[in-house]
Amino acid sequence: MTTALPIGAGFGEEPLPEQELVRIRDVIYRAAGIFHPDNKLRLLLDRCGRRMKELRIPSLHEYTEYITTRPNRQTELVALLNEITIGETSFFRNQPQLDAFRHVVLPKIVRAKSPLPIRRLRLWSAGCSTGEEPYTLRMLVVEEAAAQLKDWVTEILATDLNERSLAHAQQAVYGSYSTRNLTPAYRDKYFIPSGDKLEVNALARSNVNFSRLNLSDDSRMTFMKSMDAIFCCNVLIYFDLASKRRVIQHFFNNLLPHGYLFLGHSESLYGVNDDFRLVHLPGATAYVKGERGLGGEKST
Ligand SMILES: C[S@@+](CC[C@H](N)C(=O)[O-])C[C@H]1O[C@@H](n2cnc3c(N)ncnc32)[C@H](O)[C@@H]1O
Repeated sequence: MTTALPIGAGFGEEPLPEQELVRIRDVIYRAAGIFHPDNKLRLLLDRCGRRMKELRIPSLHEYTEYITTRPNRQTELVALLNEITIGETSFFRNQPQLDAFRHVVLPKIVRAKSPLPIRRLRLWSAGCSTGEEPYTLRMLVVEEAAAQLKDWVTEILATDLNERSLAHAQQAVYGSYSTRNLTPAYRDKYFIPSGDKLEVNALARSNVNFSRLNLSDDSRMTFMKSMDAIFCCNVLIYFDLASKRRVIQHFFNNLLPHGYLFLGHSESLYGVNDDFRLVHLPGATAYVKGERGLGGEKST
């Protein structure tokens, strides 16, 4: 079925051009593990509509051909993924989780690694969106630089699929919505005014490295080794079960034996993975890899 629309027209409540949408859904799923169930096809249509408007392509049929057969289809796929994966986030989004990380998990990681000659902490914000999560982690680490992390080198890897989000993260300028949870002390210590916005300062930017990484890219995922903690919050909602399982297995392989995995507030590995062990921390949960080097938390 071919849907011809005036350029820029909305799709409203018209019948869905399912054949084309299912083809585009398959392309997205194979590329990024993101699955649009039938009840999300209208949303997918809306996002394709944005790209069609930009490219001045008048019908979904032509756009489907463009993204499936044209030599530059990979470039278009990246652009469509940028439209699909716009992610909500903010600084200090999940305070109980951050408190548990700082006061319960970090001491365990420090203890587990203290016999090693090199004191290096490696954190990964996987699906970091516009950067608020990794910068928040960096601020917590700086707060501990004179105490738990004295003489430690810290590296925060921040990755996302969405190029536009990563560009925003590197620009590091944020409006009132993103910064609404900041305390005055953090605002003063880690931000500088930038018009009516706030810019993350050099101290909070240091040792935070952003790069584009598709969590469904098995070859790249294999190289994200030696992590002490992985934060993959509010990302797996995009994935179906099979894609989730693959990503979680990579996290398992990439964490050090004492490593921790943090998910979003309402996410769990129930039915997804049996290798990780769920632990209950004060006000939050996390997943641990090993039995050793832990203790203190309640596990299920
Ligand atoms: C809702 S945001 C979460 C941001 C942050 N982790 C938080 O909890 O505040 C979800 C992010 O996951 C990213 N994402 C979705 N699918 C992805 C994939 N296959 N690979 C990498 N990132 C992906 C999106 O681009 C988006 O930025």
